[in-house]
Amino acid sequence: MKNNSFEKLKSDSREWFEKKLKEFALGKLKELNFSYGLAEKTLGLIGKMEKHNRPTYWHMLRVAKVSYMIANKLGQSDGKLEFIGGLLHDIGKLEVDPKSLVQYRDITDEEYEKIKEHTFLGYKNLKDDYALTALVVGGHHGFTDKGYGITEKYYPNFIKQNQKLKYRVINAIRTVAIADFADAARTRRTNERSGGNVPLDDKLKEKFPEDEEKIEYLLKDPEILILYDK
Ligand SMILES: [Fe+2]
Ligand SMILES: [Fe+2]
Repeated sequence: MKNNSFEKLKSDSREWFEKKLKEFALGKLKELNFSYGLAEKTLGLIGKMEKHNRPTYWHMLRVAKVSYMIANKLGQSDGKLEFIGGLLHDIGKLEVDPKSLVQYRDITDEEYEKIKEHTFLGYKNLKDDYALTALVVGGHHGFTDKGYGITEKYYPNFIKQNQKLKYRVINAIRTVAIADFADAARTRRTNERSGGNVPLDDKLKEKFPEDEEKIEYLLKDPEILILYDK
């Protein structure tokens, strides 16, 4: 009986927590003044992901929140591109068999190859309507030699020729990539592909050597840490 009420409390608090996270995402879609078209398309896409693979759906919501908070807290931008990039970053996984997205098991090399395509698939889905968001979505795994997805050579000329805008995009990609990596490490079983038993802060600093300030913030903010408890 005691156990049952404990389980009930845990699930109630999870429901409450998920409700808050959803409210955050919907609130930001309004507050940050996205175009009607982008807001509608985004709602449609994340709704599809909720049905396709719920863990990925919640992962995208958490990454959106953390990316926005990093950008906003450190005053590097208004957080708009970080938020929408985070919210849609794994949307290409709509085209990956949900059986390959099951957590807590090692995937085969073949499945891994298929999963890697989610960067290009997400980019293709968004690029005609939302050039900057598409680059963030396509580029969130593209940082190291082992990375994959959209690199600078795919950037349209208007971005290549505008250093300020290019920096804006790359900075947003790095923020989303950090939030994504931390979320994956904290909410899924650590496996070989995510770097074995090395502590998360070391892994992050090694992977994102230019972003120590963002990493320090992400590892300490209680509002971020609580996201991984649920
Ligand atoms: Fe991803
Ligand atoms: Fe992700």
